[in-house]
This record gives sequence, structure tokens and C-alpha cells, in this order.
Amino acid sequence: MATKYSPLSFTVFSSLLLILLATTSSTAQAIKAAHGFSSIKEATVHDIQLTFKQNQLSSRKLVELYLKQISRLNPVLKGVLEVNPDALYQADKADHERNSKAPGSLSPLHGIPILLKDNIATKDKLNSTAGSYALLGSVVPRDAGVVTKLRKAGVIILGKATLSEWSSYRSNGAPSGWSARGGQGKSPYTMGDPCGSSSGPAISVAANMAAVSLGTETDGSILCPSSNNLVVGIKPTVGLTSRAGVIPISPRQDTVGPICRTVADAVYVLDAIVGIDHYDNATIEISQYIPKGGYAQFLKADGLQAKRVGIVRDPFYNFGNDTIATRTVEQHLKTLRKQGTILVDNLKLANLVEIYRSSDEGTALAAEFKIYMNAYLKELVASPVRSLADLIAFNKKNSKLEMLEEYGQDQFVEAEATNGIGNAEKAALANLAKLTREGFVKLMTKNKLDALVTPGSSVSHILAIGGFPGVIVPAGYDSDGVPFGLSFGGLKGSEPKLIEIAYGFEQATKIRKPPKFKI
Ligand SMILES: *[C@@H]1O[C@H](CO)[C@@H](O)[C@H](O)[C@H]1NC(C)=O
Ligand SMILES: *[C@@H]1O[C@H](CO)[C@@H](O)[C@H](O)[C@H]1NC(C)=O
Ligand SMILES: *[C@@H]1O[C@H](CO)[C@@H](O)[C@H](O)[C@H]1NC(C)=O
Repeated sequence: MATKYSPLSFTVFSSLLLILLATTSSTAQAIKAAHGFSSIKEATVHDIQLTFKQNQLSSRKLVELYLKQISRLNPVLKGVLEVNPDALYQADKADHERNSKAPGSLSPLHGIPILLKDNIATKDKLNSTAGSYALLGSVVPRDAGVVTKLRKAGVIILGKATLSEWSSYRSNGAPSGWSARGGQGKSPYTMGDPCGSSSGPAISVAANMAAVSLGTETDGSILCPSSNNLVVGIKPTVGLTSRAGVIPISPRQDTVGPICRTVADAVYVLDAIVGIDHYDNATIEISQYIPKGGYAQFLKADGLQAKRVGIVRDPFYNFGNDTIATRTVEQHLKTLRKQGTILVDNLKLANLVEIYRSSDEGTALAAEFKIYMNAYLKELVASPVRSLADLIAFNKKNSKLEMLEEYGQDQFVEAEATNGIGNAEKAALANLAKLTREGFVKLMTKNKLDALVTPGSSVSHILAIGGFPGVIVPAGYDSDGVPFGLSFGGLKGSEPKLIEIAYGFEQATKIRKPPKFKI
């Protein structure tokens, strides 16, 4: 099974002719309560907190409902890799705190269950394996930086979500949403490709198996699964959220961000995870962008008013013969205009073809992956594997378990052959910086844009190489019935504007519907 476009497999970026829109071909139970909360189906953080307040729901009951949903749906959808044996204990603790602490003193995420992509380390009973058997039984030194912040906010760690193994950095031949430990994840909308690499988080929130989730992105891995599963994803500016304790590809591009059903839910999660972590020094400089009072203040109904949003038609709006996608997107542009947004149309991104054709990202990432993967493995307290060379050997030794003959490990092998940041890598990095400076940055500043709007997740490569943020919001379905979102990308630290725009668009359109399927 091959995908048309798999985030982090660079070969595909060379084809600009691809329809860049989406990626693939192809009931919850109602629990009645007296007021407010009637079902976990599409329950928002706000709904849940309100129902907690009215004493109509406890965190224990909520966790039980999600566990029930997981046991019912997950055998087919495979969005969840492990559930936390301590989730109910954490729920009881949250219930106790809610009853003993002053109202208003708790975080908006207090007592809310979250699923974490399996490359985000937790020092508890859960494994942290990037979906691979190689890391099963490894012991991490500490919680990931974002997990420390979540625990402080009183969030319940419900479990680990599936992913494309090693966040799509083992081989170009492995299917999106597949990992040896997690199996093949499925989009609940199409029962097909969920897109990766944060497939499990997107599948799980789309099918109401968790309240909220965390994914990671190096190039497309939050935006693409959010698009394919009709959910909201925030890919933060690189360094806004700590990458410490996250199984890496490259800290130059890696970022941790929320995948949720609504913009507001995603923003509450973002507020809980941003900020300085001394295990990830990039967070120190980037923390200058964090607004006083956090991000929730930008959830404004009139968020689209007077924003300047750019449109680069070619190639992002080439839908081929898909008239449904074309019509849907044009309708959305009209809505943006009606809500007071200034659309700056028919822009050209100077070096767009070169950006998508260049192999510089691949060159840089291969060398960086080896450096940072080795560093991650070395820092583990205990582990059956200690280096990328060990991982390659493990896959050979366990070829059946890891489906080596089917999917290979060409990216591992390519990375292992590198030898640090040499001349070729330096040249590649310099060119990526130049392409960013003369391309996206120039386009945004010259036209005084708040955001660039593009269908699907196709813009991810431009945002990836520059470390820029993006927010994707459900937009509709293509002619094959595959969901897709609309992405809003911006310059570093532009999350406040992107959130205003994304929230305004979501409130004006309300496209998201839960998937209909029979399991
Ligand atoms: C972690 O992996 C070990 C070894 O396979 C397994 O026994 C354990 O149940 C896993 N933990 C969870 C929470 O699933
Ligand atoms: C962060 O910076 C401090 C001060 O320069 C340094 O001592 C520390 O080792 C750095 N930490 C990491 C994780 O790089
Ligand atoms: C669109 O074109 C593709 C190939 O060019 C074809 O397979 C498909 O059937 C067409 N779809 C429609 C709706 O015309």
C-alpha cells in the first residue's frame, strides 16, 4: 500500500503535479445525564468542564467512557497503542482535587484525558517506542518536557497513540499510519489511509476515543493526519513547545502540538504545553513569542476581521478534475471575505518549485537524524538498543516482527551512512535558509500577510524548513469522500493571529461532523 503523499518521504515533494489536496484514495454511545453532558460524542473541553462543575460528571466516569469507546473501536481503527493502567487512579486524584481546591484555581485541562503519540516519552507504566519493538522495555530518564507540563495542569494521561513507525523516518516504503507494534491505523471516515505520522492522535480524537491528543511534526505529520481525519491540528513554531524526551528526527524541524476536534480545545492544550524547558534550550529564545495571558484570549468570534490572508494558486489550488474540492474551497474563500478578511489573491512564491524539488531537506535530516537519534538512545536509563546502528541490526534480527522485507529501512540506512554535519549538509542547510528567506518570508512581509491559506496539508514543506507555525481546520470532503482541512500558515510566533483566523473560520463554517461507521 502506497500513499500519494506521505509526510517526510521526500521523493513525493518532487512532484508538483500531484494534487496536493489530501492524501488517499479512498456512535459513540450516548450516556444521558440530567443536564449539559449527554455523551462523550464530540464533547469539548468546555462541555466537560461545565459538566464537572454541575456535578454531572467525574473524571473517573469520563475515563471509563473513553476506555469503553477504545475497547469497542480500536480493534478496527488502531489509533491507540496502549492505555495507561494508572488512568483511573489519575482520574480519582483529579476528582479529589476538584472537590478540594478553590473553583477557578484549576487549569482548563484539569481532569481531561489526553492521548500522546508514542514518540512522546512518559516515565510511568506506559512504553515509549515510536511504534517499534526495538524500544520495548526501554526506560526513559524522565517525562518529556510537554508531559511534565501536562501533569502539572492536572491532565490525565489516557495512553499512547499509534503513529507511522519512527514518525515516518524508517523507510519510504512503509505505509502511512503503520507501525510494527500498532498495526495499520485507519481513518474513521474512509477506513483507509489516516495519513501520518501522527495518525493515532488524529484517528482517536476523530472517533471520540479521547478528549484531546498530542502529535508531533517534522514535515506534515500533524497537518496531514488532521486533514485526513477532519480534525484541528496546531503545528507550533519550532521551539515554542519542548522536544525534550521526544523521540527525534531533527530539533531544527521537530515540534510538538495538539490534535483535537475544535480550535478551542487545541488552544487549551497549546496553552498547557508551551514555555521554557531547560532540557530543550530552544524554548528559551522562542518563549519571547508567548503572549501574556496565553493563547485562549485569541478565540474571538470576529477573528477573521481585517486579517490579510495570501493565496498562492499554483500549485496549491490545482485540484485536477475534482470539482467538489474546487467548489468547496472557493466557497470558503468567499466566507473568509464575507467575514472581513482581506484576501490577497494570485500571489507567487518566488522559489516554490525549487523548494519542493530540492533534496536539501532530506540531506540535512539524514545527518541530523543520526546525531539526535543516537543522543536520545544514549540517554535512556536502560534500552536494548543504544544507537541507530543497533536499530538497523534489530530490524534485521527481527525482520518478521518489523516487516523488514515488505517495508525496508532505507531511511535508517541512508542516515547511518552520514558522518555529522559536513560540507554537503552545511550547504544544504544554507540553501534551506536562503529558500525560506527569499520565498515564504519575503512573500509574507512584502504583502504584509497575517497568514497564507492553502487547502489540505500541502504547505507543510514550506513551514517545515523554516520552523514556521500552521493551524489546520476541517474544510470538507473531496470527490472521493476523503476529508480535508484548510491550513493557515504564518511567520514565527504568529500563533495569536493564526488562532484568531482559524477560530473565526471554524465558527463561520462548522464543517466538522463525527464519522459515520458501523463497528
Ligand atoms: C509495556 O510493554 C511491556 C512489554 O511488552 C508490557 O508488558 C506492558 O504491558 C506495556 N505497558 C503497557 C501500559 O501497555
Ligand atoms: C542549555 O544551556 C545551558 C547554558 O548554556 C547549558 O549549561 C545546558 O547544558 C544546555 N542544556 C541543554 C539540554 O542543551
Ligand atoms: C478524474 O481523473 C482521473 C484520472 O485523470 C479519473 O480516474 C477519475 O475518474 C476522474 N474523476 C472524475 C470525477 O471525473
